[in-house]
Amino acid sequence: MSEAPRTATLTIDGTTYDLPIHSPTSGPDVLDIRKLYGQAGVFTYDPGFTSTASCESTITYIDGEEGVLTHRGYPIGDLAGKSHYLEVCYLLLYGELPTAAQLEDFETTITHHTMLHEQMGNFFRGFRRDAHPMAVMVGVVGAMSAFYHDSTDISDPRQREIASHRLIAKMPTIAAWAYKYTIGQPFVYPRNDLDYASNFLRMCFAVPAEEYEVNPILSRAMDRIFTLHADHEQNASTSTVRLASSSGANPFACIAAGIACLWGPAHGGANQACLEMLKEIGSVDRIPEYIERAKDKNDPFRLMGFGHRVYKNMDPRATVMKESADEVLELLGVEDNPLLQVAKELEHIALNDPYFKEKKLFPNVDFYSGIILEAMGFPTSMFTPIFALSRTVGWISQWKEQLSDPAHKIGRPRQLYLGEDVRSYTDIENR
Ligand code: SDX
Repeated sequence: MSEAPRTATLTIDGTTYDLPIHSPTSGPDVLDIRKLYGQAGVFTYDPGFTSTASCESTITYIDGEEGVLTHRGYPIGDLAGKSHYLEVCYLLLYGELPTAAQLEDFETTITHHTMLHEQMGNFFRGFRRDAHPMAVMVGVVGAMSAFYHDSTDISDPRQREIASHRLIAKMPTIAAWAYKYTIGQPFVYPRNDLDYASNFLRMCFAVPAEEYEVNPILSRAMDRIFTLHADHEQNASTSTVRLASSSGANPFACIAAGIACLWGPAHGGANQACLEMLKEIGSVDRIPEYIERAKDKNDPFRLMGFGHRVYKNMDPRATVMKESADEVLELLGVEDNPLLQVAKELEHIALNDPYFKEKKLFPNVDFYSGIILEAMGFPTSMFTPIFALSRTVGWISQWKEQLSDPAHKIGRPRQLYLGEDVRSYTDIENR
């Protein structure tokens, strides 16, 4: 005899409603309110979705209290230490770690999709030279739907897979070309004899005048940064991609929407904002001034790279990123980087400050990433494009998961209307 399904009882004006409770593999139970409006004629109210599960998923799990992040069950620390980005891409896309043959086949496929349609180069030249690379990425990725018509039919699983491979493979080329364009240097084409991270570094930093030797330390650090940003449950940009996809929009349009959302300083734009904040603070002795500003309700200033909607403990990605920062800066001989000293002291002070402890504000993934990226030679304007490059596989995996559910519906939230009641039109002479 199977157990009766668990339910929660809601009583409104004397009438009771039973709401099914679903239990997850891990994490909080969820109340199923899908029938609530039809039965009780009421909406639930949750702006910012602080208590709302928007979907079912099997891809990524986060425990904010414990500071846990897993992809298909594998802890992020194991993946960052033992795996590499394209293997993590395979895991996110297909659900299991690949065999050696599967991995070789996948890496060959991705390597052979890294080139852009030659005509797309003209898109970059339409932007002002001082355009932010994120503006270029939003435009160029959206425009991919004008070039790759043979992978825009979302009802065809094979086209969905080709679009997935194209986006993962071409994003480094798009990001690198967006950078080259803004610094007035010629585009560097991808090469098939380089791994994913090395190819990206070479496309960013090689110049025709001389050969570019990829530093294996930098390419390993780059690959680890890609892995740490690959996916993160139903964050704002992933939710944007799912909502765009729910209307049946093509994959390139959906990913362009995700890039646009990621750009905000409260989300993926925080890595650029964090490094600019560290530069503004400038020295350890000025940290108390900024800590006080962050606590001042009348001051909009926030410590960028701190706080998180889900993590109320250390973001496990920040822990790995901090270790990588120490390693990369030491190997590059810049371990006495003043920004790293400011960041470490800021972290120490904030973690011991009653305000931050009470509000459970810890460093997040964006706190240390900018320090590594700057040491690697990237300008701050390239930090969020690198986040977008890394997160493309997460967006695509979540997009693919949503489309594989035949019951998925268009996302169409309602509202709590507080505007005017119905009223008569007043002619202009009477206003
Ligand atoms: C990412 O969701 C994801 O998974 C995102 C991400 C991913 O991988 O996709 O992890 C990537 O976006 C990381 C977050 C990067 N953003 C920043 O570092 C920007 C600075 N942080 C914040 O603005 C803020 O912490 C958020 C946006 C990240 C989270 O905001 P919430 O969950 O809506 O929390 P909140 O704004 O309601 O803050 C709760 C309280 C507030 O004080 P009270 O109004 O309760 O008195 O904490 C305070 C806030 O003022 N607070 C901060 C703070 N963050 C929150 N105070 C000072 N400095 C901060 N950084």
